[in-house]
Order: sequence, then structure tokens, then C-alpha cells
Amino acid sequence: MASQEQKKVLSRKVTDLIDRLPPLPDTIRELRKTAANPNVRFSHIAPVLKKDPPLCADLLHLVNSAYFGVNHSVDTIDEALRIFGVEPLINFVTLTFSENVIRQKFASLSNINAYFEHSRKISKAATIVAKKARNSRKVQDFISTAGLLHDIGRLVILIAQDKGVFELAGTSYESLLAVIETEEDIAGMNHCTAGAHICQKWGLSPLLQETIQNHHTPLEGGIHREPGYIFLAHFCTFDEISDMMLATVLPAESIAGMGLSPDKLVAARKEYRKTVA
Ligand SMILES: [Fe+2]
Ligand SMILES: [Fe+2]
Repeated sequence: MASQEQKKVLSRKVTDLIDRLPPLPDTIRELRKTAANPNVRFSHIAPVLKKDPPLCADLLHLVNSAYFGVNHSVDTIDEALRIFGVEPLINFVTLTFSENVIRQKFASLSNINAYFEHSRKISKAATIVAKKARNSRKVQDFISTAGLLHDIGRLVILIAQDKGVFELAGTSYESLLAVIETEEDIAGMNHCTAGAHICQKWGLSPLLQETIQNHHTPLEGGIHREPGYIFLAHFCTFDEISDMMLATVLPAESIAGMGLSPDKLVAARKEYRKTVA
């Protein structure tokens, strides 16, 4: 166990690392603010976007990629915006920014790609779990974004401890709980709280902060649906556990409270495996 003094030093290091992360750029902040208006139109978004030429170039490049399958060349931001959609665009620019920050600031972790791989897996599996729970496309998009950011706080904790590699939290219910206890014991803060602080610093939504804060403890103080999907997604990606263990990882009434059932969870894992195969 770390001494109180060691804990204080490490906790300060974690806070300093978060403080020193670059702020969300003004354009993205303004885009998020504009998009938060329920009556937002493309005509409100385009002028904000055009203030940032490199961002426009990235967007046009992506819209013209094979992924979007557009059969003609897209040359204008207005058309790119129509193809992309407002919500996906906001998520795209936010995630591109955070990925760039992570690659710059956490480059000392030798296997940073393992972090991105884990984030992508959880994002994919959690989106499928949210779909099985009959959530709207908007909620599924939110979960996809939350999945990509859920462990960002772990990078800060590892760097504060001078670790050179990204380590996964483990593949059992016990290890997912043990990892946050260990972090609290060593650094006075777990990676869920550190991640929520980063999202708060970047002005990301309170729901995203809450989802990251509770992604290891989705039943603390009630049933938290969105963090629950991220939590359950981990078990969908673990090959070591059986369907029976997956179906009973949380009490049946809690799973039902998230709009799921043991069968839906097993089906989500099957679909996830098919998707990544
Ligand atoms: Fe985590
Ligand atoms: Fe994770």
C-alpha cells in the first residue's frame, strides 16, 4: 500500500497532467455549442466549420473515402455536412482532437496502439449492446463515442506512475473492480474519475462525464444505463468467459433495467464476434 505522502504526490501528478492537456480548440467548442441547439440546421454549422480550413480538409478527405461510398467527388463543406450529419460530425471532430492529443501527450507509452485497439473494441461491442437494448441511433452514436474515450483516464494514471506500457484492466468482474481500487490506493484517484475530469476540462457533455465516471461501477447508487453498456461490452469482448458467465455478470433485474436480458447479451456477443471476424 502506498503511504499517504506517496499518494498525495501521485494524485498531484495526475491533476497536473490533466491540467496541462491542451484545451478543446475554439472551433470544436463552438461547433458543439451550436449543435447542442435542438433546432440546429446545417446552415448554422457550416459557417463555424469554415473558420477552420484544416478541419474542412479532413472532413472532405473522409467524405470522399471509400467508407462513405459516395459515387462522385464531394467538393463543398455544405454537401459534406449533409452526407456526414451533424451529430456524427461533432463526434468525429472531437474524437480526432482527442486522438491527436493522446498520440502527442502519451507517446511515452510504448504500446499506445493497444489502448486504441481496446477503445475501438469496446466502442463497437457497447454500440451493439445498446442496439440490442433498443436504443435510438442517437444513443448508439453516443455510446460509440463514450466507448472510444472510456479509458482515457487510465493513460494519465499510468504516465503519473512512470509506467512505459498501456495495461488492460483484466478480464473478470473482480479485476475490473480491483483495478480502480488499486488506482485509488496508489494515486488517490481512479481512471474513471480522471477520465471524467478530462471530459469536463474539454467541456464534453455531463452525460459523457457520468458515463466515463461509472463505467466500472454501473450499479453504484442505482442503475446507470450508458455506463452499463460500456461495462458489459468488456465481457462481450473477453473470450475467456462463457455465455453463462456473460449472462449473469450483473443481476438479472439490473440487466433488465438497462433494457437488456441474458439472451440479448449473448446475442450481442455473437453479433460482435461476427462483426470483428
Ligand atoms: Fe476502464
Ligand atoms: Fe476498458
